[in-house]
Amino acid sequence: MKAAAEGDFGEFIAIGGNLFYPGYIVKGSRRRLMIDAGINLMGPAYIASLQKLFGDPNRLDYVFATHSHYDHLGAIPYLKRKLTRLKAGAHPRVGELMKKRSVLELMSALSAPQRELFRTIAGDEDVHIEPVDFEVSLKQGDRFDLGGVSCEVHGVPGHTRDSLAFFIPEVGALFAGEACGVLEGDKDGRVQVEFLSSYEDYLASLDKMIALRPRLIGMAHLWVFTGDDATEFLLRSRDETPRYRELIERYLDAANGDVDQAVLTMAKTEYDEKGTITQPRDAYVENLKAQVRHVALINRKT
Ligand SMILES: [Fe+2]
Repeated sequence: MKAAAEGDFGEFIAIGGNLFYPGYIVKGSRRRLMIDAGINLMGPAYIASLQKLFGDPNRLDYVFATHSHYDHLGAIPYLKRKLTRLKAGAHPRVGELMKKRSVLELMSALSAPQRELFRTIAGDEDVHIEPVDFEVSLKQGDRFDLGGVSCEVHGVPGHTRDSLAFFIPEVGALFAGEACGVLEGDKDGRVQVEFLSSYEDYLASLDKMIALRPRLIGMAHLWVFTGDDATEFLLRSRDETPRYRELIERYLDAANGDVDQAVLTMAKTEYDEKGTITQPRDAYVENLKAQVRHVALINRKT
C-alpha cells in the first residue's frame, strides 16, 4: 500500500512535520528518535508534532540525518537550540559539513525563497542555520536499542557519499532519504533515479536495502510504502537505475559528449515537454547536472 506520509504507522512509528518534509519518529519505551528534519523553516512544525506526541518535545533523545542535503537536516540547528538534551547523529562527513560557514550559507540561501510559503509554520521564529555539533558519529553496523524497538545503521552511498539508511528490524521499517530514489507524480508514478555521487555505489546500496526486505519505507518526501509494496518499490527503483543511465548516455551521445548541452536538452525534453516530474525545476536540473557529469566521467574511464 502507498499512504501519505503523515500520522501513525503502528505502535512504534509516527510522522512529524508535514508531508513534504516528514520527520520519522521512532518511539521506544526508553529512547525516542527522529529521522531527518528539514528544511530549517520547518523547525517549529517538528516541535509542535513532538509536543502533540509526547506532551513535552524535550522527550526526543536523538535526531539522525540520512544525508547532508538541506531538506533533510536544515532544521537540526533550530531543534538543538530548542531541545537542549537532543543529540544529533549522522555520517561523520555530515558533522564536518555542518560546521562549515560556506555550506550553511548555501543551505540558508536555498530555503530563503520559501520563507513566505512557510509563514504559517515559521512565523517570526529565528530558524537560522548555525554551526552545530553532531555528537553521534554513525557508521555501518551501529545499533541503537530504544526500548522494545531498535535502530540499525546501514551505509548506502550513491545519492551522496554520506548517505545512511536506518532500519527498524522489529517492524521492518526503512528510512533512507533519496538513497532509494524518489517517487514522481501521484499514484504509481515513475521512479526518479538519484545517483548524484556514484552510479555503482547507488546500485549496490539498492541491493543492500532490497536484502533487508522492508515492510515499510518512509520516503524522503510525501509517501510511505507498506507491506509488499515496500520491497516492490525498491525492486522498481533498482530496475530503473540502469535505464536512467542509458537515457543519460543517449543525451550525451546526441550532444557529442558535451555535458552542459546534454543537460539543457534533457531538461527541456524530459522535464519541460513531458511535464510528469513534480520536483522544482531548479532542483531537478542541479541533480541532473551531477548525474550527467558522473556518467560522462565513468564512461570515459571504461
Ligand atoms: Fe537528497
